[in-house]
Amino acid sequence: VTFDPLKIRKEFPLLRPDRDGRRIIYLDNAATAQVPEAVLAAVAHHERSSRANVHRGVYRLAEAATRAYENARDVIAGYVNAATREEIVFTSGATASLNLVAHSLGETLQAGDEVLISELEHHSNIVPWQLLRDRRGITLKALPATPDGRIDLDALDRLVNRNTKLIAVTHVSNVTGAVTDVARVVAAARSVGARVLLDGAQAAPHGPLDVQDLDVDFYALTGHKMYGPNGIGVLWARREILETMPPFLGGGEMIRSVTIAQTEFAPPPARFEAGTPPIANAVGLAAAAIWIEDKDTDEAHAHLDRLTGRLLDGLAVLGNRGVRVVGPLDTQGRYATASFDIEGVHPHDVCQLLDARNLCLRGGHHCAQPLMEAMGVTGTSRASLAFYSSDEDIDLLLNGIEDVARKFGSAGK
Ligand SMILES: Cc1ncc(COP(=O)(O)O)c(C=O)c1O
Repeated sequence: VTFDPLKIRKEFPLLRPDRDGRRIIYLDNAATAQVPEAVLAAVAHHERSSRANVHRGVYRLAEAATRAYENARDVIAGYVNAATREEIVFTSGATASLNLVAHSLGETLQAGDEVLISELEHHSNIVPWQLLRDRRGITLKALPATPDGRIDLDALDRLVNRNTKLIAVTHVSNVTGAVTDVARVVAAARSVGARVLLDGAQAAPHGPLDVQDLDVDFYALTGHKMYGPNGIGVLWARREILETMPPFLGGGEMIRSVTIAQTEFAPPPARFEAGTPPIANAVGLAAAAIWIEDKDTDEAHAHLDRLTGRLLDGLAVLGNRGVRVVGPLDTQGRYATASFDIEGVHPHDVCQLLDARNLCLRGGHHCAQPLMEAMGVTGTSRASLAFYSSDEDIDLLLNGIEDVARKFGSAGK
């Protein structure tokens, strides 16, 4: 077997059993994944051997720091298959990447221009566009959710028109796991000359991406969901677009020359990296990308599909106890995240009761309140898997859910 989740799990210090053999069953990977030794070691090695500011000092230590940071850019360019390394902008996370586009590209939009998002978006791909709407008078529209928790792409015909300047949607839903049919979104955007932004926070942990093949214009990702540090994210954008975008934050690093009267800005990516960047975190993110690339991702996906199927089958059996999946009911076109509801039990209570069994799940609105409203729920409980998830994890979870439903659910008795 080349892909062995149990062997992989051993690389994660936090997931190792304690002296009494108890372990954490971590199923909140859509919020944050755990970090393997390789990433911890890369960050520690950098801080111990190459810590200095980047792009400034001419002494050897500073040059080593710059090399490490710029090497991280090369690694991420490879991970997303960017056409050039200058297309990789380091940010503090997906939220910062999305806000960067909303501010910078947003400056080029005007009243009457339209931005199209969807009801499935994380708040970080909703609120920046609302703020832009309020600043610049653009129109914000949203593709609805289907009853099974996907973006309703049939609505593209109705909602895309020649005023549409950008379609900004999630690549994978953080609530339902639904994967967006990107080709359909791109085709609709291209038919009116609009740009496409994908929020890839949930897709990037799955394995290397090909932004050129996806044929989009912007891609946002975040380190801590892909086995990397937090406080680091990436905005990938086509170089020719980045070159036309004004800066968002001003400060050191992003300039060519400054006088009191005015500033000439540096070309991308430096133009968008004002101030001291998260250097060690970028090194850690690169280590995480290499760690993922080192896995057989086809086998990893097959494993996760199988586990998701096992989870969905188990939840379906628990239907007689008031357990209901919120989202797609099968493994087609979805990643290994599943939301569910137990009739009569609040998701926070579900998750607290499961915590008593060392099961870590998230309960609530998942920063996606419009989707909750569209699905007719106030919140859900969510299990999200990762490369170290196992059959045993799923069985422990299903046992826990059955117990909660039986003892506390209104349909369970
Ligand atoms: C789909 C999606 N987009 C964006 C984000 C925001 O990522 P971050 O909090 O790392 O900026 C998240 C994280 O919760 C997410 O799940």
